[in-house]
Amino acid sequence: MFFDKLSRMLNDVFRPKPKYITVTPVTDSGPTQMLPPSKLPRHVAIIMDGNGRWAQSRGMPRSAGHAAGTEALRDIIRASDDWGIEALSLYAFSTENWSRSKEEVAALMGLLLRYFNSEIDELDAKHVKITILGDVDGMPEPQRQALVNAMERTKDNTGLKLNIALNYGGRAELVRAARALAQKVKDGEIEPEAIDEAAFANELYTAGLPDVDLLIRTSGEMRTSNFLPWQLVYAEMVFDEGYWPDFDRAKYLKCLRVYAERDRRFGGVNEPPVPEEKQEAPAQAEEADKTKAAAED
Ligand code: IPE
Ligand code: IPE
Ligand code: MG
Repeated sequence: MFFDKLSRMLNDVFRPKPKYITVTPVTDSGPTQMLPPSKLPRHVAIIMDGNGRWAQSRGMPRSAGHAAGTEALRDIIRASDDWGIEALSLYAFSTENWSRSKEEVAALMGLLLRYFNSEIDELDAKHVKITILGDVDGMPEPQRQALVNAMERTKDNTGLKLNIALNYGGRAELVRAARALAQKVKDGEIEPEAIDEAAFANELYTAGLPDVDLLIRTSGEMRTSNFLPWQLVYAEMVFDEGYWPDFDRAKYLKCLRVYAERDRRFGGVNEPPVPEEKQEAPAQAEEADKTKAAAED
């Protein structure tokens, strides 16, 4: 048991990181696309939207769209792992989604259970660490049990950090954090002055993770629908027009390429790169410095 764990840890540490993401697009026969890892987002969040419309456009029940959506989910999790993404946060079920029909909620809950039962061995073998964002205790008992088991089983894994938002609401997450901090003040553990951004972030479900770098939403909707309000403040947003069941590695890679070309400023100013002809050769620059110093004497 101990040696098994040790060998897994060593494997993770020495696992060669890909030099380039390379993927041959499935949808066109263009050349293999490459992206340097330095241009990769550390934390990707995805609002997997459009399952219902995907099914309806084919004359199928909405639940068929959710079933098809889990196939896309499998592929995107594998791709994130293959490409060395550090953290992936997926919006799977919001606190507002309980308002859907009983049949649709039951279908989603059934799929969730099947998904965890069928995937957990492979995800664990790939060292994926699963965290549920949201109120796990508010889930039906069989699902709650499966989620708790998955988190417990993978908590020491050091590979992809896979966050699945279930029974998740962004505002509820903020209120929960505020309440936890208020309780600490009340218990005399901290002074109110100790509450800063870091202390607040530490009470969120995503404690310890970097902020989201890239948010992807499918189905053409351009809103965040109560997803990660704290963590998204400086995220780059990329919207895909297609429905979630049609999302695949090639589309994912396209989103990563769009992200890589964005100019992230975080409220500051990025100096434009100096054009080549204006760049002085080192010897010339040294000469210019000497002339300047002589002129100043
Ligand atoms: C996203 O697809 C999945 C969940 C919200 C669970 P939708 O079910 O929202 O599909 P549309 O947006 O109605 O097409
Ligand atoms: C957001 O999608 C929730 C998930 C993808 C799980 P919704 O379909 O529920 O969001 P709205 O209603 O279009 O804003
Ligand atoms: Mg939707």
